[in-house]
Amino acid sequence: MSISDVINGKRTWWIELGHVLEVLAKIPDKSIQTVITSPPYFNLRVYGTHPQVWGGDKNCEHDWIPYIKPGNTWGTPNKNVPGLIHKNVETNTSFVPDQEQAVCSKCGAWLGELGNEPIHDCVGWATGNRCGQCFICHLTEIFMEVWRVLRDDGTLWINIGDSYSQSGGSGSGEYQKRHKQFGKVINSGTAQQPRTAPPGLKPKDLCGIPWRLAFSLQAEGWYLRSDIIWYKNSLPTSAKDRCSDTHEYIFMFTKKQNYYFDQEAIREPYNPVSIKRKKYPTSKLGGEPGQDKVKGGKGSLGGGVNTVIKNKLSGANKKTIWRITNEPTNWDYCSNCKSIFIGADRKRVKRQKFVDEHGDERTIRKCPVCGETDAWVGHYASFPTELPSTCIKAGASEKACEICGSPWKRIVEPSKEYAKYLGKGFHDHSHDKTQGMRQEKTMARVLADYRTVGWEPTCKCDNKGLGSSIILDPFSGSGRSGLAALRLGRRYIGIELNPNYVDISKKLIEEDMPLLNIYMQGS
Ligand SMILES: C[S@@+](CC[C@H](N)C(=O)[O-])C[C@H]1O[C@@H](n2cnc3c(N)ncnc32)[C@H](O)[C@@H]1O
Ligand SMILES: [Zn+2]
Ligand SMILES: [Zn+2]
Ligand SMILES: [Zn+2]
Ligand SMILES: [Zn+2]
Repeated sequence: MSISDVINGKRTWWIELGHVLEVLAKIPDKSIQTVITSPPYFNLRVYGTHPQVWGGDKNCEHDWIPYIKPGNTWGTPNKNVPGLIHKNVETNTSFVPDQEQAVCSKCGAWLGELGNEPIHDCVGWATGNRCGQCFICHLTEIFMEVWRVLRDDGTLWINIGDSYSQSGGSGSGEYQKRHKQFGKVINSGTAQQPRTAPPGLKPKDLCGIPWRLAFSLQAEGWYLRSDIIWYKNSLPTSAKDRCSDTHEYIFMFTKKQNYYFDQEAIREPYNPVSIKRKKYPTSKLGGEPGQDKVKGGKGSLGGGVNTVIKNKLSGANKKTIWRITNEPTNWDYCSNCKSIFIGADRKRVKRQKFVDEHGDERTIRKCPVCGETDAWVGHYASFPTELPSTCIKAGASEKACEICGSPWKRIVEPSKEYAKYLGKGFHDHSHDKTQGMRQEKTMARVLADYRTVGWEPTCKCDNKGLGSSIILDPFSGSGRSGLAALRLGRRYIGIELNPNYVDISKKLIEEDMPLLNIYMQGS
């Protein structure tokens, strides 16, 4: 079983264990329709993965020495770039080398975990002088490999949150509290040293990681098409001198100006207030504004809000704020015997309270299979399935060419009522470009409404549209992108470096299979 089985259509999904850069190399050029992923966050937690080798010479027999900040390559403010002249910043010259990091004395390769780089951003995307060793350079290197495997009409969706520099941020009591349910936080008894603020940032500074990544990818040729705010339920924070964080970003990138995007698949319900406010029907639809809608004549929408709901309006264009609440983790995993306890089965994991040597009350969980109490795998910040689901619906068609994988495009027409209002033939699709504007204008009188009337191929192959799109998540974690993809009848390739997480996500997907079969039959 391997990635190529998914590419060749012999299997619908596969999750490969390994370092993202090494596994991506096994994926053929332009074979993926949609990439949705959430990379490790900067300076937030350790993922329990083996340190990885970054940069340097692939053929070098590395000689690892403690990591030392190289001379002038980074950290020194670049006076030639406006906005990068730092005032009142104590330039950090005393980095504490991290014990989990090393550098090769021969080729300069860096050994460490992604997200734990001492430098967040060398701003090489602005200066043209990339260090190749900061967090942003590493992510950029990965997403350029993603560029290679992504189809030219594909989309890349990156979910990324921000971090605070040093105090009040990673490793502080506040972060530990906020992230205690998501596995090990940096500095919580790991080999990590207390952190100093990276050069260019002051303690307590918000790092601005999402936008730095966005600018860096733009500089390499990606089109940044959307900055979506994922508005999530907030966790209580102890921050007294700022607002609490309730959002993360989802950036949508493309390789070309034109690409596949299915607006219809992700329409959202009209705001009921706006439905009420719009007078249905309008004078143009045969009634008078404000007249009793129930009496609306033939050919009108008649009946006000109830009719609108009955008529099942296709909905408004998806907005850039997505309110999605976190999905609670529904599993426990024992890494000793590799057992997973999902849903109701979790009751088998007995919890016992005891008082530890400091007099604090604690709870231990005992594995019902092997009896181990200390082999439970921590939970990372998984995104809720609805998040990848939305990206997949928009980015990867439900129909694809069985020969070349090209997506099939929806053919949409305004509903009868809406077409009547617009008063034109809409088979020429010339309105498509101005659809947004037109809708704005017409919203004053009638809500835009479209119907799918068919599908058409976007390639010239003699095909029936019986293929399926492939979704990739290069930081697969617990595999929520996989669940979303498979539930929607797409194929899935995941990449994950932590073997426990590979096992967990495979089991979670297999567990979901009976459900998946229902989904497949149902569609
Ligand atoms: C933010 S989590 C992703 C969570 C995922 N979206 C979910 O819903 O569960 C990032 C994941 O990247 C993995 N990871 C970290 N470094 C990696 C690397 N170099 N190669 C592959 N995976 C890596 C971590 O083990 C972690 O599971
Ligand atoms: Zn080396
Ligand atoms: Zn860099
Ligand atoms: Zn066990
Ligand atoms: Zn084709």
